Amino acid sequence: MIILGIETSCDETSASLIEIKRGEFKILKNIVASQIKTFQKYGGVIPELSAREHLKKIIPVIKKALPSQGKKIDYLAVTQGPGLMTSLLIGLETARALAYLWKIPLLGINHLEGHIYANWFKKRKINFPLVALIVSGGHTEIVLMKEHGKYKKIGQTLDDAAGECFDKAAKMLNLGYPGGPIIEKLAQRGNNHCYKFPRPMIKSKDFNFSFSGLKTSLLYFLKNNFKKKNKLEKELPNICASFQQAIIDVLVEKTLRAVQKFQVKTLLLAGGVAANQALRKNFQNKIEKREMELEFIYPDLKFCTDNAAMIALAGYFHILKKKITPLDKIKVNPQLEIGNE
Ligand code: KG4
Ligand code: ZN
Repeated sequence: MIILGIETSCDETSASLIEIKRGEFKILKNIVASQIKTFQKYGGVIPELSAREHLKKIIPVIKKALPSQGKKIDYLAVTQGPGLMTSLLIGLETARALAYLWKIPLLGINHLEGHIYANWFKKRKINFPLVALIVSGGHTEIVLMKEHGKYKKIGQTLDDAAGECFDKAAKMLNLGYPGGPIIEKLAQRGNNHCYKFPRPMIKSKDFNFSFSGLKTSLLYFLKNNFKKKNKLEKELPNICASFQQAIIDVLVEKTLRAVQKFQVKTLLLAGGVAANQALRKNFQNKIEKREMELEFIYPDLKFCTDNAAMIALAGYFHILKKKITPLDKIKVNPQLEIGNE
């Protein structure tokens, strides 16, 4: 079976082709055209501009992902939300037209579900029940999964997402966009105990997060201590390391508490922030230190950030569950949630 995935929810136009043979997955093509260069000068994504970029790139990107002659696409899978309305529309309507033309079924996929399923490229058989921490530019959620396709949200951010916190901090420090990878790189040369930043909600009994106060604390910290630019430059590694550690501490603590409360034996990371090496190491260290009997899985770097391969793979699990919506009934939903049912 061959599935073509299409992803346009934010600032990457992506089309990927996966083949499933006797239950094994093979990625035949994974084309990702990033809009990062366009948005670097703005320090964030501008929806209207993003949609125009998707329009320019969607056909060339899909063309590059098409199979070699003799191979036929059996299904199309496309992100229907959450994300930017106009960007999502371009992906979905292009996919709908192709599905109509090629006379094949189209699967509407939740982007967050795609992020979770990126882990199945890493390991073919993953044991349930599991806890997944989704950490991306727009979301920070802890999800409990008892079987394929069944999600229960047990916690989420009450304001900013973890990735957004990285991005906004980088903007305050004049470091560019997206902030996560830049802050991570600087942090590698810094001391994470150098400065004290708050760990919001780390002690609260629920599984929710809040990152906007942490962001504000950085703003005041910079105002009070670093009026001179050259002094700030020298301290960037220490500031980034200390700030990053505050985010990591909250994510690790609350997620491991959820693992204990729901007594699961598998933990997955998902989303762009899962690319952060320090986050992965902190999880690993705490799991070992607490002697937790837990399998800890995270996707390869290129499958942490947005890509259409994860959308195609989530589509495969929809097919297994016979979850196929008629072509004219699939709609975009910028606010689509996961695990609220
Ligand atoms: O999943 P993603 O590509 O897009 C969304 O669905 O939002 O995530 C993008 C987010 C951005 O906020 C970016 O700063 C963050 O992931 N990110 C990172 C790293 N790589 C990407 N955050 C921390 N460390 C990284 N290495
Ligand atoms: Zn994403």
